[in-house]
Amino acid sequence: KFGYTWEKRKDFMTTPELVTITKPDDWHLHLRDEIALETTVPATSRVFGRAIVMPNLKPPVTTVKMALDYRARILEYKPLNSNFNPLMTLFLTDNLDPDEAVRLSTEESVVAIKYYPSGATTNSDTGVTDIKNVYPVVEKMAELGIPLLLHGEVTEDHIDIFDREKVFIETILAPLIERYPELKVILEHITTKDSVEFVESQSSNVAATITIHHLLYNRNDMLVGGIRPHLYCLPVLKRNIHQASLIKAALSGSPKFFLGTDSAPHTKPEKETSCGCAGVFSAPAAIELYTQFFMEQNSLSKLEGFASFFGADFYGQPRNQEKITLENIPWRMPDQYQLGDVPTVPIFAGQTINWRLKDDIET
Ligand code: DOR
Ligand code: ZN
Repeated sequence: KFGYTWEKRKDFMTTPELVTITKPDDWHLHLRDEIALETTVPATSRVFGRAIVMPNLKPPVTTVKMALDYRARILEYKPLNSNFNPLMTLFLTDNLDPDEAVRLSTEESVVAIKYYPSGATTNSDTGVTDIKNVYPVVEKMAELGIPLLLHGEVTEDHIDIFDREKVFIETILAPLIERYPELKVILEHITTKDSVEFVESQSSNVAATITIHHLLYNRNDMLVGGIRPHLYCLPVLKRNIHQASLIKAALSGSPKFFLGTDSAPHTKPEKETSCGCAGVFSAPAAIELYTQFFMEQNSLSKLEGFASFFGADFYGQPRNQEKITLENIPWRMPDQYQLGDVPTVPIFAGQTINWRLKDDIET
């Protein structure tokens, strides 16, 4: 076994035994609430310094007060030896008061507002019905430098589910950015070549997160030879040319693309049913799988920027000081975890993962 630093890497032609990077952050995460936190919080806090916590609870998190109360519930489940810092978001509704954005700007741990088109995904019924309705609050956000996080899919019945992200960019996002060029925008969990090209073509105020499941899979993985409900998520997996474009973006070293798992657990009965919920529970192996992925793509030197630097820089947060180390030791992902007393099936359930987090965090 030997230590591993980015400078030294150039000397190695073979797979290293250890990979050490600056502690990463997860810039897009669903923790859920109540007893689910017992599972979701340690799954993320074991390795990530910070996480942007999504507000799509029932009811949604629409005020700074609700966000701070939710944060306190999350912290109750934080292991004592962890300094995990959950960064909270507000759920944008048609009538969110611009004063709430002003309140947000005075709270260090509430950092962004999330736009869900009404009905686009899990718990989004009270999302935005028309972008014009939120111009006043968006204008305030642009003024205060508050990032707008977007679930980028339109919801009209006649738009094919595989085209919804592309149409969102054309009809909602591009005009929005033209109207508010100073607005900081993160297109979350991008799934298409169109999104990659759009984000690349925009100013440094526009960035995107990329999940591990959209890097590892395309729609064939979900649909060929039988339907795999645990790979069903939104925006839905696309064809392989889109996956290839996401891979290129993640490995490019561009600071516009950074890590956001969109880890989103649903219980096994909610997934394995005639109308299953959208979401992949990836937190228990997120950094391990990103590491394996970058390694297999021969791009390990690009992992640290993507996982640990670019998101912090975009949000204007300090980069983490601690390091984490992964060991090249295969382990088997359990078939299931418990969400309270109901099972939930993680990404790579029952499969082997080649990288394992080394317990002791180096400072
Ligand atoms: O797959 C998804 N699951 N996509 C989303 O946009 C929401 C998330 C959830 O909350 O389950
Ligand atoms: Zn999400």
